[in-house]
Amino acid sequence: MRQARSLFILPAMLCALAAPGVLAFQPPPTQPQKLAPYVSSPQPLVSKMLELAGLKQGETLYDLGCGDGRILIAAARDFSARAVGVELSAVLARRSREHAETLGLGNRIEVIEGDLLAVDLKDADVVSLYLMTEANAQLRPKLEKELKPGARVVSLEFEIRGWKPSRVEKYTAHRHDYKIYLYEIPAK
Ligand SMILES: C[S@@+](CC[C@H](N)C(=O)[O-])C[C@H]1O[C@@H](n2cnc3c(N)ncnc32)[C@H](O)[C@@H]1O
Repeated sequence: MRQARSLFILPAMLCALAAPGVLAFQPPPTQPQKLAPYVSSPQPLVSKMLELAGLKQGETLYDLGCGDGRILIAAARDFSARAVGVELSAVLARRSREHAETLGLGNRIEVIEGDLLAVDLKDADVVSLYLMTEANAQLRPKLEKELKPGARVVSLEFEIRGWKPSRVEKYTAHRHDYKIYLYEIPAK
């Protein structure tokens, strides 16, 4: 008798588990990937990058992986641009925000704490990068999809493989040699 009841209960339990939402496959949430360690751009190269990109007053710059916010600060203060930083590290994102507020640039600088691969870049005029070659390769399809014609990408030290730079400038800062790559998004 007990065996007969178990035989009835088991299929009923399986049906309940198979109800929508109970056994539905839940993929693990994808964790943002750390695409580069935190190393600041040498300060003398920050303005070189923005000059090379031809950043103009009123344009919007995105610094993907903005670290302590130094590129955002230069873009807003010295080029009168709007600057958006994306930073995975909560500590660095807070530091960037505080840095901007202290200098009275909070109205021109926005810092997004999160994954740079998840932020929409369609309103960017200039994107600055100091990541790594592999990270740039991961980012490339997104840049190709979202950036508008005429947008510029400047990358310190690491090229974007498969793209032809319009300029490559060499600089020395803090006794190291660096390259800055400039890319321009062509008309579609
Ligand atoms: C080499 S540092 C460059 C910092 C800054 N752009 C500069 O030039 O001074 C790279 C930064 O990217 C950040 N980063 C790495 N992976 C990221 C991701 N998936 N989303 C957002 N930020 C990320 C790191 O935390 C680090 O602050």
